[in-house]
Amino acid sequence: MHRIWCDGLRWISGGPMQEFLNVAREAALRAGRLLRENLNGTREISYKGEINLVTEMDRRSERAAVETLLAAFPGHGIMAEEEARIENGSGFVWIIDPLDGTTNYAHGYPNFAVSIGLERSGEITLGVVYDPMRDELFSAVKGGGAYLNDKLIHVSHADTLIRSGSASLDLCSVAAGRLDGYWELKLQPWDVAAGSLIVHEAGGMVSDFSGVRFSVYDKEILASNGIIHKQIREVLKGAGGERGEG
Ligand code: IPD
Ligand code: CA
Ligand code: CA
Repeated sequence: MHRIWCDGLRWISGGPMQEFLNVAREAALRAGRLLRENLNGTREISYKGEINLVTEMDRRSERAAVETLLAAFPGHGIMAEEEARIENGSGFVWIIDPLDGTTNYAHGYPNFAVSIGLERSGEITLGVVYDPMRDELFSAVKGGGAYLNDKLIHVSHADTLIRSGSASLDLCSVAAGRLDGYWELKLQPWDVAAGSLIVHEAGGMVSDFSGVRFSVYDKEILASNGIIHKQIREVLKGAGGERGEG
């Protein structure tokens, strides 16, 4: 398929944008594979701020991505989250988050990505986000549409606000320590019956928003590791969630 990409210069497939995209994809795949292979390893965690974790894998992933980009485009600039900064006035800057979802990653929660954007003369003209656990590569070139792997994607046509999710898996994520807490409204007994017991048996706490009781027939559920239960209740209370308005 031939697409015309308009980013001010009308570059076409086979042109420089195609090459940038290919290399960005390669960099994201390489970094993402590294993250996937090491997900279950022991983590060296340090803190950049009170709640801002960083692991050795953030840095290793960054090096893999930067190395791939610079091998192809040695004259380009780099703005990466952890270490790499190259400001050379070339007009091209690769903006990289080598591990978006570090907290998830550090807890073994398989929901994280590598994110690479290209800024050209102050404008973001290309973006690649790779989810290595699902092997899903999202990409876009300005004016060329958005893709998931090789398939053109588009936002939904939903015109009402309904949430998505998998309550049973969300609860199991709390049970496995991947999530510290979780709350949701308007669920049915079959959504929560098994998962609430699994959380309980794993040492966690399950209640309604007031923290008093829990029944699978309630329309609200709050599950946590027990330690932060009260804190979540306070947040929900502040947001008007105690009466199911959250
Ligand atoms: C974080 C993730 C998270 C968002 C935080 C970010 P990091 O990035 O994107 O979803 O809520 O604000 O800092 O630190 O994992 O790269
Ligand atoms: Ca990051
Ligand atoms: Ca991030």
